Amino acid sequence: MKIAVIVGTRPELIKMALLIKELKKRDPNHLFIHSGQHYDYFMDGMVMELFNLPIPDHHSGIGSGSHSETTAKIMTKMEKLILNEKINLLVVHGDTNTTLAASLAACKTNAKIAHVEAGLRSFDRTMPEEHNRILVDHLSNYLFCPTEGAVNNLKTEGITKGVHLVGQSIVDAVDYISNSVPPSILDKLSLNPKSYLFVTFHRQENTDNLFRLNGIVDAIHYLTTLSPYKVVLALHPRTKKILIENNLLKLLINHPHIRVLDPPPNFHESIHLQQHAKIVLTDSGGLQEEACILGTPCITLRENTERPETVNCGANTLAGFNTVKIIDAVKNVLTQQTVWYHPYGPPGVSDKILNILSQKTK
Ligand code: UD1
Repeated sequence: MKIAVIVGTRPELIKMALLIKELKKRDPNHLFIHSGQHYDYFMDGMVMELFNLPIPDHHSGIGSGSHSETTAKIMTKMEKLILNEKINLLVVHGDTNTTLAASLAACKTNAKIAHVEAGLRSFDRTMPEEHNRILVDHLSNYLFCPTEGAVNNLKTEGITKGVHLVGQSIVDAVDYISNSVPPSILDKLSLNPKSYLFVTFHRQENTDNLFRLNGIVDAIHYLTTLSPYKVVLALHPRTKKILIENNLLKLLINHPHIRVLDPPPNFHESIHLQQHAKIVLTDSGGLQEEACILGTPCITLRENTERPETVNCGANTLAGFNTVKIIDAVKNVLTQQTVWYHPYGPPGVSDKILNILSQKTK
């Protein structure tokens, strides 16, 4: 049985890093494939170094493009690769275009598919990720769910076979990083713990809609006048490009109470910044989970989430993109003292997945 793991973007690399390392340790003939959807050093190479990952056995180098372009290019390359390398089982993660394209190629070449982080639903069909995750779940033979809620989402859609509740693999990544020496990012930025709000946003629904983009940027400006907290903004390349195009970046960079991190911090620094932030404000799915695991309140700059467990346990508030709603959410969170247990289970998720796969594919 030849197994291959494919990743393409920063979050997939982070959440699959421990699984890739363990898979290679168990049998170096299994493959690590990178689509190249993300390619900048700080989106890709930096993560590889941080987790000491092996060089991918295959790198497709497809780069950026429209959704269809990216998906089609990856699909075509993966079809050839699956056939040439005689891959029997492809492990994919999450909801990116890489995930969908690779799964379609596996399906069309009769390779089996294992989907890590299966069953998440935002119930928002305007998100490209929602199409991707639904389609991939319906193509997959093995579905590894992070929570009971994800298992139930699959059940509602008639998927019960091959479903395993294993926990969230981000817990493995956070655990791995927490065992190393903390980075000096707070000192570097002259920040005291709990003296700043950590902000990131990059989702297409927010960046490519000027109304929403302005709502979030106005909220960032207003927050610096409202609270004694500084704003630390980690800049995703998509966000940077749009902010420059709309003449908004200069105002943020030149603001005395806003620190723009460009390039964005590496995963270790991001975890450290989230851990010591007063609040995390984000539209990222991964950061909603990470803040919840680290015990820092999160305000989500979206009107829905595919991670409702973070809201239900009291760690996360949905604020959307409206300036007033974001400010109100910050005020509320600052007056509350909520304590929660995160819903994502203990470390060891990557091992658990590989053990199940090796039993099932004997
Ligand atoms: C993708 C995923 C999203 C995930 C995010 C994490 C899809 C549909 N979306 O979104 O689920 O949360 O990754 O970052 O797959 N760019 C660079 N350098 C890079 C990568 C991207 O400059 O290394 C810029 C390019 O202008 C590119 C844009 O960012 O066109 C968007 O990149 P893309 O991979 O399409 O989507 P993300 O927004 O990163």
